[in-house]
Amino acid sequence: MAEIIQTKDFFLNTGAKIPAIGFGTWKAGPGEAAAAVQAAFEAGYRHFVRRAARKGAFTYGKEDRTVHDPDWDFIDTWREMEKLLATGKVKDIGVANFSTVNMSKLLGSCKVIPAVNQTEIQPLLPQKKLNALCQQHGIHQTAFGPLGGSGSTLHEDPIVNTIAKKRGCSSGNVLLSWGVRKGWSVIPKSTNPTRIASNLQKCFHMDDDETAQIDNLVTTLGGKRFNRPNWGTTVFHDDQEANVQ
Ligand SMILES: NC(=O)c1ccc[n+]([C@@H]2O[C@H](COP(=O)([O-])OP(=O)(O)OC[C@H]3O[C@@H](n4cnc5c(N)ncnc54)[C@H](OP(=O)(O)O)[C@@H]3O)[C@@H](O)[C@H]2O)c1
Repeated sequence: MAEIIQTKDFFLNTGAKIPAIGFGTWKAGPGEAAAAVQAAFEAGYRHFVRRAARKGAFTYGKEDRTVHDPDWDFIDTWREMEKLLATGKVKDIGVANFSTVNMSKLLGSCKVIPAVNQTEIQPLLPQKKLNALCQQHGIHQTAFGPLGGSGSTLHEDPIVNTIAKKRGCSSGNVLLSWGVRKGWSVIPKSTNPTRIASNLQKCFHMDDDETAQIDNLVTTLGGKRFNRPNWGTTVFHDDQEANVQ
């Protein structure tokens, strides 16, 4: 029987499972996030980013030390995170926004290999070099901004829309289905109850031809990072080589 994408899981290097389609609430307005998370639980999501704990759901805690400490070294932070595993309260530890440069540095000194690297991945930022490195070390990639965020131009793309029309779903479902087909989990954000439900429930198993068409978008349209916060230090080391704008 064909696997149902709505309940598909990927395996982490710890043996834990992570649902392929998750849910984010970043930039949800005041009072919006709680309602969105409630709607997401009701729609069937089992993978939440930020503080949305419920028994049995996969959730994250996050820390951003650069905001507090200019001398921050992520190797030191990782060593502290490794100790958390011994408490039994934390099951899996991972990183976010790690480039191949920072990941290689971490892999050179860590005792525990990260279970997950959460980075922006969407058709115009396919992160090929980073994915190859993560795959080589058994690190699962989670795609944030899988729709291109609030400034996305991907929903107007004719190729995305042709596939959406053929499949009877939204452009969002095409972008998310592509991500799952490529092997990473996706965490779309929405505060719209209809989109919250359909983003999870209307994804489909993308075939080889559709995947090749979406893979090709970066060649025809050029590389683009939609979410580029100022980290005060170089974080996106791979962008220049991949010609990402
Ligand atoms: N680790 C990090 O540094 C980091 C950085 C950025 C994001 N994240 C996480 O990743 C999550 C997702 O990223 P994101 O919020 O930047 O971008 P995203 O999920 O790619 O896009 C969200 C935008 O798309 C709209 N949208 C949702 N479903 C849609 C659909 N089916 N069709 C058309 N538009 C749709 C949303 O509007 P509506 O709400 O109106 O539907 C919102 O404006 C965040 O919420 C956050 O949890 C992590």
